[in-house]
Amino acid sequence: MSTQAAHPPLDLLTGTAADLGEVMQTMDAAFEPRFGEAWTRSQCAGILVLPGVWLVLARIDGEPAGFALARSVMDEAELLLLAVPPAQRRAGVGRALLAAIGEEACARGAERLHLEMRDGNPALFLYRQSGFDEVGRRPRYYRGRDGRAHDAITLARMLTSERLIPDIVTL
Ligand SMILES: CC(C)(COP(=O)(O)OP(=O)(O)OC[C@H]1O[C@@H](n2cnc3c(N)ncnc32)[C@H](O)[C@@H]1OP(=O)(O)O)[C@@H](O)C(=O)NCCC(=O)NCCS
Repeated sequence: MSTQAAHPPLDLLTGTAADLGEVMQTMDAAFEPRFGEAWTRSQCAGILVLPGVWLVLARIDGEPAGFALARSVMDEAELLLLAVPPAQRRAGVGRALLAAIGEEACARGAERLHLEMRDGNPALFLYRQSGFDEVGRRPRYYRGRDGRAHDAITLARMLTSERLIPDIVTL
């Protein structure tokens, strides 16, 4: 996949294991260590080689602007990670990555996309706006560096074949 927009210049590209350096750079910038949500490089490398897993990279003017990691099994897809560096936020990159994951999941035969997030993460606003509803909760699932535990919320949305990618990205 390679998409390009005239304004703003946001590219969405399919990533590979060769892009792990970029992924970890964004991971370190995006996730606050105190919540324990970020993955290690070896966790990312381990999952990338599994069947049904794919990575989408976002770049603005050729510079890393975020990534999303997902997997699909049969008619179900899961968003594993979504991250945008602080300097690139609130410009629609997260929404575009989420939409790209939804479209690819659809193309792979998934009918539902689900994800798990820390209770209290403002990412909830983005997910709700994108049609996700809460379907479950795991108490005290995340434990941050400060030892505090946070519930995990499971969110899900049905997928349709409609165009999901917003207008800022031109196919
Ligand atoms: C969550 C995250 C990916 C959002 O990326 P983003 O590029 O800033 O998101 P977008 O610009 O596409 O946001 C789209 C809409 O979602 C909502 N939204 C996104 N972040 C929000 C926030 N922090 N607070 C309130 N609403 C927010 C807004 O409605 C926003 O539209 P607006 O800017 O026009 O108001 C980014 O904040 C991030 O990387 N966070 C740290 C990592 C993380 O927690 N990932 C999710 C793990 S489940």
